[in-house]
Amino acid sequence: MGFRHIELEDGRLRVLDQRYLPTRIRWYYVVDAESAHYAIRNMVVRGAPLIGVVGAFGLAFELSKGDPGPEAARAAAERLASARPTAVNLPRAVGRVLEAYLERGARGALEEARSIMEYEREAARMIGVHGARLLEDGDTVLTHCNAGALATVEYGTALAPLRVAAEEGKRIRAIATETRPVLQGARLTAFELVKDGFDTTLISDTMVGYVMSRGLVDKVIVGADRVLADGYVFNKIGTYQVAILARVHRIPFYVAMPTSTLDVRSRPEDVVIEERDPREVLYVRGRRIAPRGVRVLNPAFDGTPPEYVSAIITERGIAEPPYRESLARLLGGSDRARSAV
Ligand code: MRU
Repeated sequence: MGFRHIELEDGRLRVLDQRYLPTRIRWYYVVDAESAHYAIRNMVVRGAPLIGVVGAFGLAFELSKGDPGPEAARAAAERLASARPTAVNLPRAVGRVLEAYLERGARGALEEARSIMEYEREAARMIGVHGARLLEDGDTVLTHCNAGALATVEYGTALAPLRVAAEEGKRIRAIATETRPVLQGARLTAFELVKDGFDTTLISDTMVGYVMSRGLVDKVIVGADRVLADGYVFNKIGTYQVAILARVHRIPFYVAMPTSTLDVRSRPEDVVIEERDPREVLYVRGRRIAPRGVRVLNPAFDGTPPEYVSAIITERGIAEPPYRESLARLLGGSDRARSAV
């Protein structure tokens, strides 16, 4: 994008305030657990890997302010982890920082936050390297929500294969769904792809079936907020219908994620789908679009069963069905890999 949207600066974390994109560049500073909680809860930052990194630094800064002790540290970690419930990256990253603090103190907590950030930076690039193998010169890739650089530290997850393929000289076109109600596709994906020179077409969420039926889509790549051991994918609301339409039209449907998004312990019914403020649906950019008295449903994520997923692209390689075996093989069975990344 020509600039870094997340940067450590004088002992604080400077992040791009995504609420104002694409019209304004404003920065937000994470200095403690409360400022991180606010940023995550209110979507100053969003995207599974990014909220993990921001949560990790928020807790590490908090624990560096004094020596709060184990009980207060646990309470701060718990509150931060609950800022958004669906993406597993947040509780996992915050849990790692807490563990580091309990073992090695405030310095350990900060080191852990830094190592999570560096891991995510490198993981995204490797997702790109592996995923680019699935893309051919001339492909048009449809993506949903924003799983780009802005959802990670760099490169993105779903958008990383497009970036690496372009670096390899392949001509790749993109279709971004606008992604109501928060419009991550229109505001963020279109912003970063156009900035990076991709031929990008924006469609409303209602046009997915049309573009697929007209042969305008070669592949779909989406990100993920939580993927279970059997390949069940939780991602931005609307992903499920994109996956079904892709299946009907025989278009490969790929999910890209760092292994920090993998949750090998939960079953689909255990995963909490975040329900957000009805005003996100009732208003578009501050303007009310529906009558008073109407009921609103606003789940932020949905679940896509593994049978609709053609492959899962990770930093460790590409997993193919059946996922229980292929994902376990990628993790190599190590406890560290299972619990930490
Ligand atoms: O509500 P958001 O904007 O945090 O939702 C983000 C998504 O669903 C992304 O597609 C997902 O986190 C993958 S990000 C690399």
